[in-house]
Amino acid sequence: MTFKPAKWPRKLRSQEWFGGTSKDAIYHRGWMKNQGFPADLFDGRPVIGICNTWSETTPCNAHLRDLAERVKNGVWEAGGFPLEFPVFSPSEVTLRPTAMLFRNLCAMDVEEALRGKCIDGVVLLAGCDKTTPALLMGAASVDLPAIVVSGGPMLNGHFRGERVGSGTHIRKFNEAVKAGEMTPEEFVEAEASMSRSPGSCNTMGTASTMASMAEALGMALSGNAAIPAVDSRRRVMSQITGRRIVQMVKDDLKPSDIMTKAAFENAIRTNAAIGGSTNAVIHLLAIAGRVSVDLSLDDWDHCGRDVPTIVNLLPSGKHLMEEFFFAGGLPVVIRRLGEDGLLNKDALTVSGGSIWDEVKDVQNWNDDVILPRDKALTKSGGIAVLRGNLAPNGAVLKPSAASPELMVHRGRAVVFEDIEDYKARVDRDDLNIDETCVMVLKNCGPRGYPGMAEVGDMALPAKLLRRGITDMVRISDARMSGTAYGTVVLHTSPEAAAGGPLAVVQSGDFIELDVGARRIHLDISDAELAARLAKWEPAVPRPDGGYVQLYHDRVTGAETGADFDFLVGCRGNAVARESH
Ligand code: FES
Repeated sequence: MTFKPAKWPRKLRSQEWFGGTSKDAIYHRGWMKNQGFPADLFDGRPVIGICNTWSETTPCNAHLRDLAERVKNGVWEAGGFPLEFPVFSPSEVTLRPTAMLFRNLCAMDVEEALRGKCIDGVVLLAGCDKTTPALLMGAASVDLPAIVVSGGPMLNGHFRGERVGSGTHIRKFNEAVKAGEMTPEEFVEAEASMSRSPGSCNTMGTASTMASMAEALGMALSGNAAIPAVDSRRRVMSQITGRRIVQMVKDDLKPSDIMTKAAFENAIRTNAAIGGSTNAVIHLLAIAGRVSVDLSLDDWDHCGRDVPTIVNLLPSGKHLMEEFFFAGGLPVVIRRLGEDGLLNKDALTVSGGSIWDEVKDVQNWNDDVILPRDKALTKSGGIAVLRGNLAPNGAVLKPSAASPELMVHRGRAVVFEDIEDYKARVDRDDLNIDETCVMVLKNCGPRGYPGMAEVGDMALPAKLLRRGITDMVRISDARMSGTAYGTVVLHTSPEAAAGGPLAVVQSGDFIELDVGARRIHLDISDAELAARLAKWEPAVPRPDGGYVQLYHDRVTGAETGADFDFLVGCRGNAVARESH
């Protein structure tokens, strides 16, 4: 931790807009005054942007306008001048074909908004899965003082006496309907039980994982991740974050000061301890690229490998985010990492102090939710990074969500050429498949889908579900929802649509998985593989124009975060020249 606060007072960036008596300054101030802002607000105090992903079409973020008002209260209290603005809001549940297609679009919007607007620092209001990484990516590329406030998770769901978690139970119930154990009418009845308050998914899905990543990276105040969306303490967190960003601007405490390699290592270990989403792999790689931190898939494996999963939340465990909050939340987990020698204790946070200072005195209030070391869900948590002739650039698997008996497996491949082929054939009674087979899904990677949808945890064939089969080895270049589970190999790279070996797997081939050895192998000769690859032709046409074509042409592989190649790196916040 080497941060030295800047001297205060000094001239701030916002004075490039509001300072002086030039014609341009009068344009900037004059038009802002049409909102009723008194003249003294333009006197050189910190101007704080509140970058809001609020949207009624992003239900997980639909309460963020209320939180923005709380942030403003804090900014006013600390002597700043808050200005809220909207950015594109990719919703996991309503945006087609997949929100991931638009994470980079949101990040571009954020970056250009932060650079182009009259602000000195920013509060990032995020919630639903892609909004947190997109805001961090954009903010990292601008490097103005920035701090995250998460929307927080929904309250626990309950259905017929059972606790039900967002996403996870939709999958369980869907499989129960396919297996004939639940009626479609009961499924609809369960729907309302799952989403009973504002907020993001209440499991340790991608939204809660990414909120935890923001906190573990040091980009949110300690305790931010787990407070339920409707708890009064979520509003308090918003208000004190508003106070804090004003001081961060005075100190000139920026994302590049906080998001160092040490911070990313802390986040990776935290992800292992919480049993976090595989999506964190892609998002953290992309965020690291924006701050020029050299982070790779191998860092995921070697940092997370020996970290036990101690947070007993769905989909890996049994509780939900409310219990996690009541148990003490993420600070307890980070403290445990520190006690076990698994934390870079000196890593700086938005507080201006070290991450260890933030957590060293917290307590665990429920050791069935945050488990003792000897009762960990998985001794070796984290994300397993697999390599082999099927994934030369890597693939990932989440051991805490997988079946131990399938971690070493050899099976006959049953191949689906794309998601439509899968949907058309998976439930047919004449599909030649049994529980020992390996389901293979192609053309669902960043370029292939396009957007790398969360379809990698493809539901098992109905005829196997009816026999009580609950898990099989599945391999794809897709992602999987953080609320999903199973022995699922994801992010296989290079993807099929880019001519990776996955593209030439044929039904009837045999595939070997050995998670302990970190190996994924297509059991054909090198010569046969080379011959098939030589004959391969792209099956996915180039999109015809628009943003989707840009995405197809410029997205990088999953192993580097699926960012756009031209967005990697920090481009700073220099004020562009302008004249009226
Ligand atoms: Fe928005 Fe899960 S769908 S957080």
